[in-house]
Amino acid sequence: MNKLEGLVDLKTGAQRRLIYSDQAIYEQELERVFGRCWLFLAHESQIPNPGDFFRTYMGEDDVLVIRQEDKSIKAFINSCTHRGNRLIRADRGNARAFACNYHGWAFGIDGSLATVPLEREVYFNEIDKDQFHLVPVDNVASYRGLIFGCFDKDAPSLEEYLGDSRWYLDAVLDAMPGGTELIGATQKVVLHTNWKLPVENVCGDGYHLGWSHAGAMKAVQSGDLSGFTVGNSSVDLEGGMSVAGLNGNSVLAALDGRSGYAFYPDPTLALKYLEENRAKAVARLGKFRGEKLWGSQINFTVFPSLQFLPGLNWFRVYHPKGPGQIEMWTWAIVEKAMPDELKQQILDNVLLTFGPAGLFDNDDGDNLASCTVQSRGWRTRQMPVYTNMALGRSGQRVGLPGDIASGIVSEHNQRYFYRRWQEHMQAKDWSEVPQYNINPLEAEHEQRPVQAA
Ligand code: FES
Ligand SMILES: [Fe+2]
Repeated sequence: MNKLEGLVDLKTGAQRRLIYSDQAIYEQELERVFGRCWLFLAHESQIPNPGDFFRTYMGEDDVLVIRQEDKSIKAFINSCTHRGNRLIRADRGNARAFACNYHGWAFGIDGSLATVPLEREVYFNEIDKDQFHLVPVDNVASYRGLIFGCFDKDAPSLEEYLGDSRWYLDAVLDAMPGGTELIGATQKVVLHTNWKLPVENVCGDGYHLGWSHAGAMKAVQSGDLSGFTVGNSSVDLEGGMSVAGLNGNSVLAALDGRSGYAFYPDPTLALKYLEENRAKAVARLGKFRGEKLWGSQINFTVFPSLQFLPGLNWFRVYHPKGPGQIEMWTWAIVEKAMPDELKQQILDNVLLTFGPAGLFDNDDGDNLASCTVQSRGWRTRQMPVYTNMALGRSGQRVGLPGDIASGIVSEHNQRYFYRRWQEHMQAKDWSEVPQYNINPLEAEHEQRPVQAA
């Protein structure tokens, strides 16, 4: 067991670099973060029909998500219960049963062991097939199309876990009838970085935009959008906000209702869509979310490893592969109500900006890998790094859940990310993990009811 005291100092905003390289800390993360939290598995749009399956990871465990005959969703460890072989190698598909490559045991889509080759001849019909059912993920639940899984039976419900971050998430997931879908193939990138660095970068680091991405933004920014003006080293902060204190989940958002499409070579179609549907969004979400959030550049983080950015419209999950390596999986998220031409434009833009060939991802990948390597030497691992910008300057806003810092450049959300990480790492089980929704939602801001899938 690690001594975790002092690795994260909330008073000074410092983190010991050891947390980016230490194998024992990583093992504890697999148990106490990835083994305990709700993790994104797939979007319902990726498995619409019975027998549709999607293969993903929970921590380093290979997991199969399968749509059942009754349309419900189950998830299982993707490992044959005979000798442990990987059961399904395809990333996704549709099947009536899954046969193992090694000795041919076959499982139903409900995880039951259906057939065993030579069952009579070599097992003498004595094998108890129930005992060899695929191992299920204990908790599987969806929130407005996003499917999550959790290994921990004692975890709070998914809705409690998301807490009041749902009010912000709904500004995208529930803005239009039909909700959202993920489009495009899974873009996979292996990056030699500790998983926490890209997550906290996206959850709160507006600081690097105008510097790291100055060239990329110049290349793709359309010239006619105000409200998110980017120079070589500055970002216009007017009206943006960093929101945290929502059970570890966070939101970084511009508040102009249109800057999400600032980094499109030609945003005409997107802006037309926003204009034509604005009244509908306001009717569903209310004035603040419909006018200020919907259409803005937003970074959503669901702790620990799901992030999506409406506007730029990438949607990503991070899979850790040891303390110094991750796989990032990226898709494009669109509203189902969008015209096909706009959906295609969004997918093209995600490919241009993020993913293996993306201008922005290449800027970040280099920096994040370098921060990881520079933190694993004997001397450097004892040194601190800082997220101390605008410390102590956050507060509450009437009607807006969370602890909020002005602007999108503050490192406020990053501090909350490390606070949540530390809370999980120190807690022996969920009974010791604090739940908090700072400035909880008022009744008049309650979410619209979630429809059954
Ligand atoms: S390991 Fe799968 S059938 Fe033997
Ligand atoms: Fe970046």
